[in-house]
Amino acid sequence: MCGAAAAFLLCGLMSTGFAEENKGPETITMTATGSAKPKPAVFPHKKHQELLKCGDCHHGEKDGKQVPYAEGDPVGKCESCHNAEKMAGKTKGANKLDTLKGAGHGNCVDCHKEMVKKDPALKEKNIDKCATCHGK
Ligand code: HEC
Ligand code: HEC
Ligand code: HEC
Ligand code: HEC
Repeated sequence: MCGAAAAFLLCGLMSTGFAEENKGPETITMTATGSAKPKPAVFPHKKHQELLKCGDCHHGEKDGKQVPYAEGDPVGKCESCHNAEKMAGKTKGANKLDTLKGAGHGNCVDCHKEMVKKDPALKEKNIDKCATCHGK
C-alpha cells in the first residue's frame, strides 16, 4: 500500500501516528538462565493482555528504583534487571528480586493469590497452584 512514491510521505506519517505497539509473543515459556534445576513456567501473555494493563507487569528502572510503565516504553526481559549483578540482596517479601523466580513469583504468584481471594471461580481454576504455571 505504501509502495507508490506519491503516497510515501502520507504513509510515513500514518505509520508514525498509528504505529502498532509491539505486544510481544502470545505465549512465552519462561526459564531461568543457567538454572541447575529448570522449572519452566508457561505464560499465556496474550490472554493476560486482554485482562490487564501492560504496566501491571512491565516497568522500567531509573537510579536503581522501579519506574512505572508508560505506553510505548521499550519492554525488557525481566532477567535483564532481575539478576544477581544488578539486584544483589534485593527482596520483596519472601521473594528474592535478584532471580527470575523472585521476579516471577513476586508478580505472577502474588496477583494470582490476590485474585483467588476476590473471585471464587478463580479458586476453582486453581490459578494459585504450582501446576497452573509449571505444568505437572
Ligand atoms: C502464577 C505462576 C506461578 C505459580 C503459581 C508458581 N510459579 Fe514458580 N515460577 C513462576 C515463574 C514465572 C518463574 C520464573 C521462570 C522459571 O524459572 O520458570 C518461576 C520459577 C520457579 C522456580 C525456579 C526454577 C529455576 O529454574 O530456577 C521454582 C523452583 C518454582 N518456580 C517453584 C514453584 C512452586 C513449588 C510453586 C507452587 C508452590 C510455584 N513455583 C508456583 C511462576 C509461577
Ligand atoms: C500479566 C503480566 C503481563 C502483562 C499484562 C503484559 N505483559 Fe508483556 N510480558 C510479560 C512477561 C512476563 C514477559 C516475558 C519477559 C521475559 O521473557 O523476561 C513479557 C514479554 C513482553 C514482550 C517481549 C519482550 C522481549 O524482549 O522478549 C513485549 C514486547 C511485551 N511483553 C509487551 C507487552 C505490552 C505492550 C503489554 C500491554 C499491551 C504487555 N506486554 C502486557 C508480562 C506481561
Ligand atoms: C529495566 C529494569 C527492570 C526490568 C526489565 C524489570 N524490572 Fe522488576 N524491578 C526493577 C526495579 C529497579 C525494581 C525495584 C527493586 C527495589 O525494590 O529496589 C523492581 C521491582 C520488581 C518487583 C517488586 C516490586 C513489585 O512491583 O512488586 C517485582 C515483583 C518485579 N520487579 C517483577 C518484574 C517482572 C515480572 C519483570 C518482567 C516482566 C520485571 N520486573 C522487569 C527493575 C526491572
Ligand atoms: C495482575 C494479575 C496477574 C498477573 C501479574 C499474572 N496473572 Fe496469570 N492470571 C491472572 C488471572 C485473573 C487469571 C485467570 C484468567 C481466567 O481464566 O479468567 C490468570 C490465569 C493464568 C493462567 C491460566 C490460564 C488459563 O488458560 O487457564 C496461567 C498459566 C497464568 N495466569 C500464568 C501467569 C504467569 C506465568 C504470570 C507471570 C509471568 C502471570 N500469570 C501473571 C492474573 C494475573
